[in-house]
Formats: sequence, C-alpha cells, structure tokens
Amino acid sequence: MNANGITAAVGEPRPRVEGRLKVTGSAAYVADLPMPGLVYGWMVTATVSRGRIRDIDATDALAMPGVLGMLDHRNARRLNPDVAHHFGPDRSLPMLQHEVIEYAGRPVALVVAETPEQARAAASALRVTYDAEPHETAFSMNHPAIRPASTLFGPEANIGDLEAELAASTVVVDEVYHTPEENHSAMEPHVATAWWKDGDLYALDSNQAPFSISQVLASLFFMDRERVHIRAEHVGGGFGAKTICGAQLILAAMAAEHFERPVRVALTRQQVFLAIGSRPPTEQRVRIGADADGRLRAVHHHAAFAQSTLAEYIEWCTEQARTLYAAPAIRTELSAVPLDLLPPCTMRGPGATPGSFAYESAIDEVAERLQMDPLQLRLLNQPAVSPVSGRPWSTRRLVTCFEEGARRFGWAQRDPRPRVRREGNLLVGTGVAAAAFVAGSFPATATITAEADGTFSVKIGASDIGTGARTALIAVAADALGVGTERIRLHIGDSDLGANPGAGGSRGTTSCAFAITETAKALREKLGDPARPVTASVDTTPLINWQPAEERNTYSAVFAEVTVDPATGEVRVRRLLGMFAVGRVINALLARSQLIGGMIGGLSMALHEESVRDPLTGRLVTADWAGYHISAHADVPNIEADFVADYEPQDPSGFNGLGEIGNTGTAAAIANAVWHATGTRQRTLPMSLGRVIETVASRDRQEAIGVA
Ligand code: MOS
Repeated sequence: MNANGITAAVGEPRPRVEGRLKVTGSAAYVADLPMPGLVYGWMVTATVSRGRIRDIDATDALAMPGVLGMLDHRNARRLNPDVAHHFGPDRSLPMLQHEVIEYAGRPVALVVAETPEQARAAASALRVTYDAEPHETAFSMNHPAIRPASTLFGPEANIGDLEAELAASTVVVDEVYHTPEENHSAMEPHVATAWWKDGDLYALDSNQAPFSISQVLASLFFMDRERVHIRAEHVGGGFGAKTICGAQLILAAMAAEHFERPVRVALTRQQVFLAIGSRPPTEQRVRIGADADGRLRAVHHHAAFAQSTLAEYIEWCTEQARTLYAAPAIRTELSAVPLDLLPPCTMRGPGATPGSFAYESAIDEVAERLQMDPLQLRLLNQPAVSPVSGRPWSTRRLVTCFEEGARRFGWAQRDPRPRVRREGNLLVGTGVAAAAFVAGSFPATATITAEADGTFSVKIGASDIGTGARTALIAVAADALGVGTERIRLHIGDSDLGANPGAGGSRGTTSCAFAITETAKALREKLGDPARPVTASVDTTPLINWQPAEERNTYSAVFAEVTVDPATGEVRVRRLLGMFAVGRVINALLARSQLIGGMIGGLSMALHEESVRDPLTGRLVTADWAGYHISAHADVPNIEADFVADYEPQDPSGFNGLGEIGNTGTAAAIANAVWHATGTRQRTLPMSLGRVIETVASRDRQEAIGVA
C-alpha cells in the first residue's frame, strides 16, 4: 500500500484486461475490422528455388468476376532496394521488383478482387512460367560456402588455451547436434489492411512492433516515417514471426496505392510457411573437457546455421556456453551458410533455444561419462563472475532455481543409472537443463497526460501479442503514478505513439515499463492545477546504459520426466517443472501462463516440429499443419512454472523480461530425460518416433536376441 492508501498493482496476479473481449469474440483482430471500399489481394509465390520468371499470363485471371487487376514486376512501383532490417540490408523486402527468383515462396504477383474468394480463384488461374536455375538449399556444416556469422551482437568468446585444456582433461565429450528448420505457427496468420490518404500510408497489420515496422515500410516507399501509420490492436501470437515487415503488409500497401482502394492481404496457413522466414536449421559441434571430479576445463561450441543469400541474420546459438558454467578455456564460434532461401526469422528464443539443446545435452554427456549426477555437475561449475567477460553478475539466482526445482521435482530420489526405471513396457527417465537469456531494455518513448477528470492517458507504442503486456503496463503505470488501475487509460499498438522496440528479444515489457516509470516521475514533478491537463513525455534513449558493469540475464532450471515406448519409439513428456529467475514479477498469473506457453514450445521443438525440404525443388514439403506437427493438447502434460524471489538492480522497478526463457532450456531437459529413460543419446531434433526407434528399439531387439 502506498502513501495514498492505494494497493500496489505490480505483484498482483490479475487476469488480462481484454480477456473478456477475447473469450467473447469481440476483440477486433485485423481481419475483423470492416472498411468501406475494401478489396482483397491474393499473393502468388514462386515455385522454383532459383531462376527467372519467363512469363505471367493473366489473360484468363483478369477476365474473371470481381477482378480489379494484378501487380507483378512489370507494373509494380519501384521500392527502395537498399532497405535495411534488424541485421542490416535485406534484399528480400523489395517485392515484385524484377523477374529474378532467389527462393521458393518469393511473391511473384498479387491478384486484387472485390472478394477474397474471387481473388483466390483468379490467382489460381494465373499461368506463371519460370526458367529454373540450379539451386542450393541443403544445409550442412560442411558446406563450402560456410563463413563466420555477423558479429552484430559482439565478438564470439575466446579465453584460455582451449587445446591444452582439452588435452589435460580426464574426459572429453566431442559431439555434433542437429536441429531442423522450424516454421512459425502463430494462431493468427499474417494479415494486413492498407490504405492511402493525402499521401500518408495507413495500415492495420498483425505484428509485434508497429513502430519499427513503420520505419522499414517508410524506407521501402521512400517516405518520412511520420507519414506511415501502423496499428496492431490485438495480435494472435507473434513468437518472432511478426517482428518483421511482412509480405502481407508490403503487398497490401503497394496494391492500395496502385488500385486507390483499401486492400487487405491475408496469408493462408500455407503461405505463412512459404513467405515468412523460418528458424534456420543448425548443426553444432560441442567439445567439453572436464577433470575426474567434474570441474570443467574447456568448452568449445561451434554452431552453424542456414542463411539466405539476400540478408544477414544471426541465430545466436553460443550464448549458453559463455554464461552457464565456469571453465578456464571457452571458445565459441558462429557460422552461417548462405543458401537459396528466404532470410530466416527470429523464432521463440532465437539462437538460445537450439543452442541450449546442443550445449545442455553436451553438459549432460559429461556427467554421463563421469558417472556423476548431472545436477551436481551443473552446481559444481557455477561461475562467480561471467566466465568470459569477467564482469560480475547483475542478479543470478540460478542455483536457487536448481535447488528449489530439485526439491519440488523429487530429484534426490532419482536413480542416476539410465534405463533402469520401467513401468510395464515403458522406459521412464528424468532430466534437467539450465538456461540463461540475455536481458535488458531498449529505448522507448512514453507520454502521459493527467486529465482533468482524474484519469491518466498513457500512450506507448507497445505490442500485446497475447502475453498480457497491456495488463502488465497498466499495473506499472498505476504504481508509478500512485493511483489505482481504474484511473489508467492505456493506449498501445500504434506507430504514432512514439518510438518503441515492440514485443521482441524478451524486452517489450521491460522497455515499456521503464519508459512509463520515467514519464510518470516527470509528470509528478509537473503536476500543478488539477483542473488543467498536464502532459509529460520521456524518451529513454539517453537513460539506457549500453555498457553496464554487471552482466544481466534471466535464468531457468527445467526438469522433465518422460516415458519412452521401446516398441514404437514414442516419447511422451509426463511432467515438466520450470523454476525461473526473471527479476521482480509484475503479474504472476500472466507470467506463469507465458512461461508455460514457452515450455510447450520447447516440448513441441523436442518432439514434433520439423520443416522438410525436397532437395530436388528446394521447396518445403511440410507447409501446413498436416505435414508440420506442433504440440496439441494431448501432448501437453501437467506443466508447472514458478519463480524464485529475484530483483533486477539495473531496472528502476527490478524487472526482467521473460518472453523467451520458458522456451530456451526445455528441449534439452527432455532430451536428457530421454537419455535417462533409454540409455541412448538423442542428438537430433525432433525426437520423433522414427529417430528414437532406430536407436532405442534396435538396442532392445539386440538385447532380446542376445547380441547387444
Ligand atoms: Mo522474439 S523470437 O524476440 O519475438
């Protein structure tokens, strides 16, 4: 309770403010909003992975009912060829500019008609022919085009004498791990409605960063950013797929200008697979050396990922190796293999998640070879300071996560030997993995007006992609202003509300909470006559400390119990427990829901998700939910997520973001549990029936006939 007798809202587990709208179906998502004069664009995508468009014959299509016309490279307006995105110039963004095809799924035309059905029918009547050229879409670490990845996130680690420490080690694990290409599956597919008025461009777009997307779109159209207005009120999931200026938005804006009508482009589920970037496949070699007592001497993590020839991208897999454990020698390397693919896209803990699978599996393998408890090995190697930079930790409650998790999970009762626990036909095992995720705040601008009626209008270009950010920021604003939440009028999801990083990098809510807190402070200093509205606005750019003395991360310890059917190779996760250290928790109800969602994403990655490309065509053969499996309700066990007491000293309110840490360690924990159940290490994701049966069941059969 504060001085005014108001109970603090931060720390209260309140349901999300728009929950009722959502469950009653009255929350308006982009495709729900009516618009006078609206017409519909249907995207047509390239079917070759490399080549040229020979011809697009639209004779039949243009004669079909309701068709207004078609945009392709012959009549589309010129876009800025030098537009840049998160990682630098991105030549996939200018669309319909030339006949060259650089990847299968490249948009080649947009058919526009009065109804979506008419547009779709006409699009299917287009006759597009190509001159195909040889393509390269097969990823491997041994690909000759492999090169060092961008170091935009800083140099890779290189401390100590790696080879000498490996040579002096009692045990050395040297293994290669694979994770597949994975595709985005947000509940709401990408959709945009765009229109032009008096030279300004307006769009409703399902995205997770209206402000930064307005910057990219303005650059594409050679416009001032202030003349591009993007709104995203309710968004049905993002997971990284909507941090980008998507094909739906670029094409809708082009068509709205060309046809002088508002245009909606809604991607089908299949089109999301083809035209929205995927998490790239990775191949990772991990070498770890340790003494007989379990002390690590050497860590070498070399991760390679698939890249596009059109843009830089970073799948930063090497974060865990530089953060989780101490060792006198640590080297990380990150490599990219440019291929004829759409540029990859951030996805659910980019880099950290596939990186964690490889690294935390390898750590488990060290424990296995030492016949040591894997939790004990992890506790033994906790670093007092950051092992690579030597900087102190900001807050690091990982040991508490381990200890509290172990207690709740019943780890002490675990028989460390693999393949000894059986229930009927099933093998049962448990495993653990840790994760760290880099935390911080990005610059953001907030504006707060103390209205004459006693309410406060809080304007910030935040995104709520289903996380509950709206509800969390109302609580933050109320506490910062010392008033009840009923007096806060929060406006978000609009590029006109000021510079904002959007919901990404686990920093949306911390960045916006920081800006709101500082703005509230400024406003309280200004308040005078209560009958007159007063406004304050703060841009946190100068307040962000880009080089803090302490290293700032969130942490998790994830525990998993699995069963494996040796006859079918079927792995079922029976139990997941995640203990998290994420700073001060704003709203435990929403935070727990988000972390459980992240853990389900990790379960999905561990057991199901795999995009498959046909090597002959380079095309995805799994471009829908029949071919691409994600966890369904029946796959999800009782999952617990909870927090240890924590406070982030670098944040004015003690917060850290938790958007991605739920995802990060889960796949490794499950893989380690599968090893414990079966005695067989799964180094390739997903641990599908086919993969597991080849190793586990063949061993069982060998045992049965006495050859094992
Ligand atoms: Mo995220 S994968 O930073 O939206």
